Amino acid sequence: MFSDLFAGTGQVWRYWKEKWHQVWANDLQYYSYALNRHYIGNHHDLYFVGLISEIPELIIASVNETKEIVLAYLSGLELTSGFIYENYCSGGTSGGMHERQYFSDENGKQCDTIRTQIEIWKNEAKVTEDEYFFLLASLLEAIDKVANTASVYGAFLKKLKKSAEKPLELKPAKYHLNDHDHIVTNSDVGLLAASSKHDVVYLDPPYNHRQYSGNYHILETIARYDSPEIHGKTGMRDCREQRSDYCSRVNVKRAYSELIDNLDAKYIFLSYNDEGLMSLDDIREIMSRRGKYGVFEREYTRFKADKTESRNHKKDSVIEYLHYVEVDGVMDSDK
Ligand SMILES: C[S@@+](CC[C@H](N)C(=O)[O-])C[C@H]1O[C@@H](n2cnc3c(N)ncnc32)[C@H](O)[C@@H]1O
Repeated sequence: MFSDLFAGTGQVWRYWKEKWHQVWANDLQYYSYALNRHYIGNHHDLYFVGLISEIPELIIASVNETKEIVLAYLSGLELTSGFIYENYCSGGTSGGMHERQYFSDENGKQCDTIRTQIEIWKNEAKVTEDEYFFLLASLLEAIDKVANTASVYGAFLKKLKKSAEKPLELKPAKYHLNDHDHIVTNSDVGLLAASSKHDVVYLDPPYNHRQYSGNYHILETIARYDSPEIHGKTGMRDCREQRSDYCSRVNVKRAYSELIDNLDAKYIFLSYNDEGLMSLDDIREIMSRRGKYGVFEREYTRFKADKTESRNHKKDSVIEYLHYVEVDGVMDSDK
């Protein structure tokens, strides 16, 4: 079992899934879970049999056509407004206390229309769980491409940028078919570690104080579609329950130390860079307690959005480390 316990958008483990390994993807954020539940968890074809009465074209469609047909049907529905339009688009918020423009009016309504219909199908048991997460992942991918932000959802741009003016385009979220059952969870890594067993664990935690819950709050709301109470200029939902210890200078070392002590695994890998809240020495000391420790390093040019967001970075490059530990007490035959 190969486990990515801070899976994010699951890019790393999508690769391993394609290599036919059994994969476990976990993340604290529900929007990540929704993406991973589809990209990692789904591994069979989808037929949408429960929608035949609503979309008769599906009867004669080949399995390669069904996904496109359902997405085209969703894209063609008459537009209605809902939570996203009313709270995150200019048309829905103008004249209110906070005017926001995270999406064009049309894309906000399109998102609401599609999201509402997906939930109706789920509640009426017309789509399977696999189909539900395929639809949700396809919508999350599409809406993210037309977001009027510099990179994350901590702020929106004053004027609609070119990509945000384009109409939302719902495309099938492509995934890999195979015969393995994969595991996808939506848990705090600390809770998961205390009650699970793994072979190889890969850890790619946040490395600075910026909480993912705040940076991606709108994707979280679209994934949950739970009409939360929101506040302030950015329209943030209450993210207190999803605050990560890995973004706290005070808590990170304790959290990481407990995680490494509790993990039942043969090999543990950690991806971290030289600007992270934990120092190289902290990490070496914590991981060495479990067995034979080592580290690889490589210099990378800084991510472009970091440069443009005027975060006052002095350096143009960062050193990325891949720390690892071969855990003691594991029989050679188990490795
Ligand atoms: C650096 S990102 C991972 C990126 C990922 N490798 C990818 O390919 O997208 C860190 C992830 O850790 C998640 N996270 C933060 N604290 C967590 C916790 N306590 N338990 C589980 N996941 C957590 C965040 O939601 C975020 O998705």
